[in-house]
Amino acid sequence: MSAHVIDGFSVAASVRARVADSVRSLKAQGINPCLAVVLVGEDPASVSYVTGKEKALAEVGMIDKSYKLPVSTTEQELLTLIQNLNADPAVHGILVQLPLPAHINEARIIMAIDPAKDVDGFHPVSVGNMVIERPGFLPCTPHGVLVLLREAEIRTDGAHAVVVGRSNIVGKPLAILLARKACNATVTICHTGTRDLASITRQADILIAAVGKPKMISADMIKPGAAVIDVGVNRVEDPTAKKGYRLVGDVDFEPACKVASYITPVPRGVGPMTIAMLMENTLLAAVRFAGKE
Ligand code: GUN
Repeated sequence: MSAHVIDGFSVAASVRARVADSVRSLKAQGINPCLAVVLVGEDPASVSYVTGKEKALAEVGMIDKSYKLPVSTTEQELLTLIQNLNADPAVHGILVQLPLPAHINEARIIMAIDPAKDVDGFHPVSVGNMVIERPGFLPCTPHGVLVLLREAEIRTDGAHAVVVGRSNIVGKPLAILLARKACNATVTICHTGTRDLASITRQADILIAAVGKPKMISADMIKPGAAVIDVGVNRVEDPTAKKGYRLVGDVDFEPACKVASYITPVPRGVGPMTIAMLMENTLLAAVRFAGKE
């Protein structure tokens, strides 16, 4: 058996194309969707994510308001910038790239963002709306995973979904989304306190790896025929690669392909979906703003 490899790159391209169409018609009505992207410091992975976001904004025709701040930026300076962006009617979405330098309190920054502009879906108001199934902004990576499952026609209704990882950005919100009525999965969350992880992952019809440890999900942890979604993006040194590193997921891909029925690759799996869903959220923010005016 060889798993069907889900092409996240092409699904993401079609999401962006749909967003670009809607942006054109919004512009015709005089609304110019705009995202403010805030990067503090020069963490190489963050710089590369932000570059990807800027490229996507240009592609879908949205205004890109970027702020590249030095690592020495104080928490107060960042809070002041966010207050200004909250008050600016030309800005529809605000994204502060995480992680922030250690001297800045991440929770305080997230909570300063107006929930109406919280296109990352990280503000407690957005998280609460997601949990109680009210309209709001869904976090981009978990939402992108749902879109990939839907596009690949992987049935979630009644399926046992096992999520390995409980981060605020991926594991926890994805577990909630899968358990909501629209997906209707039975969900197990595994984490560092889980005993005999393999015995649980082997029960998964849908296995989600969101840990950040290269190749930690081996083939023998996967139930034959399962759908495997790899959210991990890990840089591993590779002197033969142009950049000196290559990206690998949390799943040991080649052996896993022999066991799973569906699998997402790294790169070109979940990664491009995150940015595509960010474009969709920014569009939604602009539409909602226009509706309110
Ligand atoms: N860092 C890693 N993933 C994300 C994300 O989705 N949004 C932001 N703001 N920072 C991140």
